[in-house]
Amino acid sequence: MSAILVLNGPNLNLLGTREPTQYGCETLSDLKERCISAASKFDHSVDFRQSNHEGVLIDTIHEAGERYKQGEILGIAFNPGAYTHTSIALHDAIKGVDVPVIEVHISNVHARESFRHHSYISPVAKGTIIGMGLKGYELAIQALAEACD
Ligand code: DQA
Repeated sequence: MSAILVLNGPNLNLLGTREPTQYGCETLSDLKERCISAASKFDHSVDFRQSNHEGVLIDTIHEAGERYKQGEILGIAFNPGAYTHTSIALHDAIKGVDVPVIEVHISNVHARESFRHHSYISPVAKGTIIGMGLKGYELAIQALAEACD
């Protein structure tokens, strides 16, 4: 059994109460349950993390690179929150390790303010899932579980 790392960035701890018209009414712990259930269909486990701190996210990605090398994880379903639009450091962290990353956004960032239209993460991600609500994480888990590389 391998694990899938589900990594959430800033403010996603507020899911359920933060802007429910954008992000829905389910909480971070509801999301965790969804991810565990999605991964269990493929006999995989989930390592579910959230941090509001860019450096912690970077350290987690570096650690994931080591874990991927050891065959312990299949990849990362990553919602970088607002760091998506600002963080060259997260871009470099992903580029610096060999681990597949699927970028996930709950809301359709392209239908929102123009500052959300650019992602520093997309060029270094294996794929992106945008605007599908929390279902997007389940789709990312499926994509990582079914990937053949
Ligand atoms: C988000 C979109 C970002 O623009 C925003 O800053 C978030 C959440 C999403 O999941 O839709 O925090 O990544």
